[in-house]
Amino acid sequence: MAVSTNHTSTPAPKDDAAPAIGAATSRVDGRAKVTGSARYGSDFNNAPNLAHAYLHTSRIARGRITAIDEAPARAVPGVLDVLTWRTIGDRIKPGKTFKQKGYMGTTMAPLASDRVQYAGQIVAMVVADTFEAAREGAHRLAVTYAAEAPSATFDSPGAETEVAESSSKEGEEPGEDKPKVGDAAGAFAAAPVQIDQRYETPTQHHNTIEMMHSTAAWSAGKLTIWESSQNMHGFRNGLAEQLGIDASDVRVISPYVGGAFGLRGSLSQHTALVAFAARKLGRPVRLEATRSQGFTITTYRAETRHRVRLGAGRDGKLQALIHEGWEVTSRPDSYKVAGTDASTRIYACPNVDSEVYTVHADRNTPGFMRSPPEIPYFFALESAMDELAVALNMDPVELRRVNDTMKEPIKGLPYTSRQLMPAFDAAAKAFGWAGRDPRPGSMRDGDWLVGWGCATSLYPTNMGPATARVTLSPQGKVKVQTAAHEIGTGIMTALALVTADRLGVALDAILVEVGDSDLPPAPVAGGSNSTASLCNVVAKACEDIRARLAGAAVAAEGGALHGADPAALTLAGDQLRAPDGRAEPLADAISRASPGAVEAYAENMPHGAKPDALRNLYKGTTGLVGGAKLKDRMQFAFGAQFVEVQVHARTREVRASRAVGAYAAGRIVNPKAAKSQLMGGQIWGLSAALHESTEIDRRHARYYNDDLAEYLMPVSADVPAIETILLPEDDAAVNDLGIKGLGELGNVGLNAAVANAVFHATGVRIRELPIRMEKLLGEPAART
Ligand code: MOS
Repeated sequence: MAVSTNHTSTPAPKDDAAPAIGAATSRVDGRAKVTGSARYGSDFNNAPNLAHAYLHTSRIARGRITAIDEAPARAVPGVLDVLTWRTIGDRIKPGKTFKQKGYMGTTMAPLASDRVQYAGQIVAMVVADTFEAAREGAHRLAVTYAAEAPSATFDSPGAETEVAESSSKEGEEPGEDKPKVGDAAGAFAAAPVQIDQRYETPTQHHNTIEMMHSTAAWSAGKLTIWESSQNMHGFRNGLAEQLGIDASDVRVISPYVGGAFGLRGSLSQHTALVAFAARKLGRPVRLEATRSQGFTITTYRAETRHRVRLGAGRDGKLQALIHEGWEVTSRPDSYKVAGTDASTRIYACPNVDSEVYTVHADRNTPGFMRSPPEIPYFFALESAMDELAVALNMDPVELRRVNDTMKEPIKGLPYTSRQLMPAFDAAAKAFGWAGRDPRPGSMRDGDWLVGWGCATSLYPTNMGPATARVTLSPQGKVKVQTAAHEIGTGIMTALALVTADRLGVALDAILVEVGDSDLPPAPVAGGSNSTASLCNVVAKACEDIRARLAGAAVAAEGGALHGADPAALTLAGDQLRAPDGRAEPLADAISRASPGAVEAYAENMPHGAKPDALRNLYKGTTGLVGGAKLKDRMQFAFGAQFVEVQVHARTREVRASRAVGAYAAGRIVNPKAAKSQLMGGQIWGLSAALHESTEIDRRHARYYNDDLAEYLMPVSADVPAIETILLPEDDAAVNDLGIKGLGELGNVGLNAAVANAVFHATGVRIRELPIRMEKLLGEPAART
C-alpha cells in the first residue's frame, strides 16, 4: 500500500547509464502525479461499508457548552451516531506535544469536556452513511453555550504574557541556553549609531490544497489510518497513546501528501476521533473537514511582535544586538518558535541579548509552518539591518560583509561552512545591484516608483536518525524502503538518485517505497531534514550491499575479481569493476553473494544525536539535531534574497517585479528539484510579504477570512520573474554526503527584502506585514 515509483511508467535514461548524485533529474513519480494516478491520503475513500463523518465546531471562543440537542441531527436519514463530550470525555487521552517528547499539536484532547477554549473547537462529530447526511446532521445539531468574553490576540484584555522558557537543548535546564553574551544594554546605550524598532508579523495558515482528513478502519483489533502525514511514526505512536492500544496495532498509511508545510507534522485532534468512531460503529469512517474548519482544528503560524535594538560603530560593525520576541499561543499550551536562537547568532557582535515571551489567548494552539522561527524573526532582524544601513549611509550588502563571521558570537562555535557573502555577491551580480541609486524614491518607471532591497536567508541544517532497507534482486532490480514522507519535495527521486549512484543501476531498475509506517522508520519530514537524513542512510545500505558483493567476488576462486581489493571495487553499468579493468557482471556478483536477493538494512545517526535517538525514532519521537542546537558547532545553509518592487506613485499599489536568490546548501542531490523548491520558497516569500494574513475578529476571537476566496495569495500574474542560483558547496562535516537540505531556505529573507525594497521605492518603512497599499496611503510621497 506504500507509495512507490512505477517501473513501467518511468522512461529509462537514453544512454542506460546510472545517473550520479547531482544529476538534474525529472521526478521518478512525475508521470503518476500529472496523470492523477498518484494517490493522496484523501483518496482512500471507497473502503467497503465506509461511513462518513462531519464536524460541528464551536461558534464561541471561550465558555461552556450548556446543552446539545442531538434529536434533529439523529432524525436525518442515514445518520448513525453523534459524538459529543458526553460520548468521549476521558476515553481519548490528551496527547503529549513535541516539547513533551510527544507527537501532538496541542495538549487539548478532542471532546474532553463541556469547556470551549477557542473558536472553531470541535464540539461534535456526526457520522452517517453518506457525507451529505453527516453534513446535514452536523448543521442541525443545536448547541447552546454560556459564553465568556475571549481574549483574541496581543493587547486583548485577559491575554496573559509570560517569559518563554528558552528553546533549551535537550538535557539542559530551561533558560540555560538563552542567547546572551556581554553587556548588550550598556553597549547599545553607548553605540554611536542606534536602531530601536518594533516589527510585527500576522497570523498565517498553511492552506494546503488537500483538506484535513482521516480515514480509519479496524480489523481484528488492529487500526489502519489513511491520512497525509509528515510524521507517520509519530501519528502511530501518538494515536496508540490516545486510544490506549499498542503502537504495533496501528498502521499509518500516508501516500502522496497534498501540501504539508508543517501542518501535518503533528497529530491533530480529529484523527483519534475518527478512529474512535470507527471502532464504536464497527465500520470504517472517513472525515473530510471543510477548509474553514481546517483553520481551527489544527495548527497555524501565530502572529508575532518584535523589538530589535542594534548598536553599531560608524564602520557598521555591530556592538550590540538585542532581539525580543512576543508570540501568541493558546491558553493551555506554550508553543512558540523562539527564533532568537538563530537571529542572535548570524552576525559578529560582542554584546547580545534576547528574550521570547508567549502571550496566551483564547485561540487554537499554533504550530510549525514553513521555516517557523526564521520567517518572523528574520523579517524583524533583516528589516532592522536595512534601517541600520540607511542610518549609516552604507550599502546593505556591505553592512552584511563587515558583520560576517565564521563563528557565532555567543559561544564562539564555528559554522561548518558559511557562504553568506558569496551568496550576496552572486545574487547582487545577477540582479544588477551595482546600478542602484541608494536614495529612496530615486528610481522610477513611468507612474511606478521602483525599489530594490535585499536580505539574508538562512536555514538550520537539521538531521534525524533514519533507517532504510535496500534489496537487490538477482535480476539487478533494486527496492528501496523507508517510511519517508512524499510531501511534494521529490524524496523518492532523491533516494533513487543515491541508489543509482551507489549501485550503478539505471533509474528504471529502482523502486522506491515510502509512505507506510510498516516500513523502516524515517524521521518527521520537518526542519528540512529529510534529504540529508534519508540519502545518507540509503547510501549506507547501498554500501553494505556493494561490500558484500565485493567480498564474495574477491573470495571466489577462479572468479574474474579473485584477489582484488574489495574496498576498491565499484558498481557501474551492471558490472562489478576493479580499478585495473577487471569486471564481472552484476548478476554473477549477486549470485556469489547470496542465493536470492541481497538485502541490507541500515541505520544512521546524525552528528550530535543522543544515544537513544534510534530507539526514540521507532517510538515516533524523533528529535532533530542541527542548526544552533548543537553543542560544538553551527550548521546552517545560507542564501541572499534580492527583490525589485514597483509602487504606484498615486494608488500605492505594490507589485514585486523581480526576485533573485542565491543559495549555498551543501551538496545538491537533484538540482532540478532543488531549484524548483527554492523558487517555490521565493514565491511564498513574496506572498507572505505582500498578501497573506489571517484576519482576527478581536471581539469574538474568530478568524474572518477562513477560506481561499479571502485569504489572499498570489496568482501567476502576481509572480514576477524569479531567478534561483545554486552555489557549489562542499561541507564534509554536516554528514557523509555533505547534504544540507533546502526545503525551507528559499522563503526566509523575502519578507524583509520586500520591505526594504518598498522603503527604497517610497521612503516609507513598513514594519508590519503584509505590506498592502493601504499601509502606504496617506504617507508622505517619496521624493521624486
Ligand atoms: Mo516544516 S514547518 O519543518 O514542515
